[in-house]
Amino acid sequence: MCGIVGILGTKPVALDLVDALRRLEYRGYDSAGIATVENGRLGRRRAEGKLRNLEHRLVEEPLKGHVGIGHTRWATHGRPTERNAHPHMSPRVSVVHNGIIENFRELREALTAKGHVFETETDTEAVVHLITHEMDKGLGPVDAVKATLKQLEGAFALAIIFAGQDNLMMAARLGSPLVIGHGEGEMYLGSDAIALAPFTDTVTYLEEGDFAVLSHNGAQVFDKSGAPVERNAVKSQANALLVDKGNHRHFMAKEIHEQPEVISHTLAHYLDMADGTVRIPDVGIDLATIPRVTISACGTAYYAGLVGKYWIERFARVPVEIDIASELRYREAPLPPGGLAIFVSQSGETADTLATLRYCKENGQRIASVVNVRTSTIARESDVVLPTLAGPEIGVASTKAFTCQLTALACFALALGRARGAIDEATERALVKELMEVPRQIANQLTDESQYEALAHQLMKSRDVLYLGRGQSYPLAMEGALKLKEISYLHAEGYAAGELKHGPIALIDEIVPVIVVAPVDALFDKTVSNMQEVAARGGQIVMISNADENSAGCQLAAHIAMPTAHDFTNPIVYAVPIQLIAYHTAVQMGTDVDQPRNLAKSVTVE
Ligand code: F6R
Repeated sequence: MCGIVGILGTKPVALDLVDALRRLEYRGYDSAGIATVENGRLGRRRAEGKLRNLEHRLVEEPLKGHVGIGHTRWATHGRPTERNAHPHMSPRVSVVHNGIIENFRELREALTAKGHVFETETDTEAVVHLITHEMDKGLGPVDAVKATLKQLEGAFALAIIFAGQDNLMMAARLGSPLVIGHGEGEMYLGSDAIALAPFTDTVTYLEEGDFAVLSHNGAQVFDKSGAPVERNAVKSQANALLVDKGNHRHFMAKEIHEQPEVISHTLAHYLDMADGTVRIPDVGIDLATIPRVTISACGTAYYAGLVGKYWIERFARVPVEIDIASELRYREAPLPPGGLAIFVSQSGETADTLATLRYCKENGQRIASVVNVRTSTIARESDVVLPTLAGPEIGVASTKAFTCQLTALACFALALGRARGAIDEATERALVKELMEVPRQIANQLTDESQYEALAHQLMKSRDVLYLGRGQSYPLAMEGALKLKEISYLHAEGYAAGELKHGPIALIDEIVPVIVVAPVDALFDKTVSNMQEVAARGGQIVMISNADENSAGCQLAAHIAMPTAHDFTNPIVYAVPIQLIAYHTAVQMGTDVDQPRNLAKSVTVE
């Protein structure tokens, strides 16, 4: 994934490059680096780990060039060392890259045979040697890049600068997003518009296969055939203020606390509050006759989609197929003509989700996406966008984006139900009323977190943690386990409570905490039976429920008392305790809550 930036400036650009990279750290934070052209020569500084290490490096050894590129890395090929950090360079050219060059082994072998010596384990270095090789043969920089692009296979976004050229930067996009920013006598490049927000709000999104030649006067864009093309400049909505943590210790905490507000914004987008009805954009097909809905996404967004399946099947009575994007895209799933495919993604850039979207499009599906970044590739390639109004989510572990995805999907399920006549107007109004209660129900849970701190103190001593839930609470059990493992590094698994006896029950002993998402709904009594099976084996049960603790009929290690919500809205309301359990456990374990190891916020590789 990685974030890339470039500035073709009129003054030293190193500090602005670092500022832009800070906005891209959500894309990876294994290492960072910048390169500039200074007195005709390429100079570079790189550092392992977070961006602050690069900043320290730049204080000791500044770079003064007016044209430069920068990179923040999520390692794919080669360990996250300084040597493997971008930019990669030869004396003639320097390159930053996001994505994967799939044929890098072949290229490396061919170039090595021609005498090129590789210094790193990265795929990107092949691009540097290829451009250098073409220039050594006598081509100018632009033609050398053109010749190189023809030889690359895979997904990439590239920014390239050249020794001796302080009025030239090149860019190329195939499968990874890239944006050109237009300034006053300055030009910019970035993986997204947020990176460029402090410098300009006028941006041009490159399309698949495009490459661009930037100078102080502007950008010339060419399509994949090499023909010059016009790509419109648009006004970006990205906010120039780097979102801060407010008075919270971590972005994750801030984002958990923002949920009442951002869920309200999302509801306001989909509900006619005065009328008590749902309004969704026209999806361009007759919702009353669609034969099937297919949902696909990754990680937390997939769990939101799974709750969406329960809702759509229940309220709209239309069959829903759901699969993880990395599976659906390769299993050649047959799709019904005239079907609707829904993709759920916070970033709107997730490579597997995007590839699955394209597969569904090629197979005749109408495409809807539930996305948080409206300018993202997934949004732009969809027939209809169902936005989540969560605002920028900085913490790597998704929280407010998840509950906003649930909110948008809940509204969509009701609209679909109405369009198909599966629910009547009175039911719609009653359910809309329940949705409107959610922000308050969540706000009430966020006033006192002391019980989570106490529980975290116990959980941090565990080796394994199990999460159980039935029906709509099953996806939440899996989301709870994912949240805990990604930020606390404790092993956790989420199971459908009814599955426990088919295997996982063997894991239970006196030290295994079992966290049960157990709202009082039609399945509550069955979940209680599963808790008793756990209790009989000495398991430590944590019950998250609006039932009182005696209803469990067994000894509880902890009881998280929930407000009573409607069973329709329970998944949104119960997302909060599972987020808080993970957050406080990670805080007590002293992990890097906002940027946990090995992860990145936007996953643009397969
Ligand atoms: C976990 C998390 C990830 C993402 C997944 C999909 O907390 O955030 O599992 O949900 O990588 O990302 P998006 O939603 O950007 O497609």
